[in-house]
Amino acid sequence: MGHTQNVEKWLTKMADIKISPSILSADFARLGEEVAAICDAGCDYVHVDVMDGHFVPNLTIGPDVVKALAPHASKPLDVHLMIAPVDPYIEAFAQAGAEIITFHPEAGPHPHRTAQAIKAAGCKVGISLNPATPVSVLDSLMGDIDLILVMSVNPGFGGQSFIESQLEKIKTLRAMIDASGRDIELEVDGGVNRETAARVIAAGASMLVAGTATFQGGPDKYAENISALREAAVR
Ligand code: DX5
Ligand code: ZN
Repeated sequence: MGHTQNVEKWLTKMADIKISPSILSADFARLGEEVAAICDAGCDYVHVDVMDGHFVPNLTIGPDVVKALAPHASKPLDVHLMIAPVDPYIEAFAQAGAEIITFHPEAGPHPHRTAQAIKAAGCKVGISLNPATPVSVLDSLMGDIDLILVMSVNPGFGGQSFIESQLEKIKTLRAMIDASGRDIELEVDGGVNRETAARVIAAGASMLVAGTATFQGGPDKYAENISALREAAVR
């Protein structure tokens, strides 16, 4: 293959990978500006981590803050709910401007009902698997979801180390998605950096969440940090 074709192939591969920076690592006192800055720096989505101090051992933000941030985001909001219960809050997050709403199946007794409610609210449906959650939880849900979020750390905090065992799970999920013939995004969240990103993409991920790796070095570095993650697709 000639040099030009190689470059084209790399560019396509890099463009195929979606980057969703987690604003958990942003400066919370300047959240609107931070959201605008990562959008200008070339991210594809804005990952919003919602925690309730009950499903996970940390508290973050609720629908009113998401609503206030929405006008600052020129990219779609990828809202990751680490809360239980989920159903009573779906409408509020949809109204706040979420494009994707992702929930954890352990958060309630009826994940199928929750998926239907997210869809009915006009959002894309994401399901998140904790490091110890088996892929079999998706067996009867593949037809009802738009995105699978693999947690490669235990949810609750930014800045944790990538859990290697999740690479096998990503490969298994890639095979399940391909076999389903459905257009399901495979997103990976936790400990994703320039080094782990290449392995995560090689295992089959199509979308990367990155908090620490996006926000390190401050606003002047956001574009470079996001590009470096995207370039992992061709390493
Ligand atoms: C953890 C959150 C992640 C987290 C990622 O519960 O779901 O989105 O902020 O942070 P990093 O990229 O720093 O591991
Ligand atoms: Zn997250």
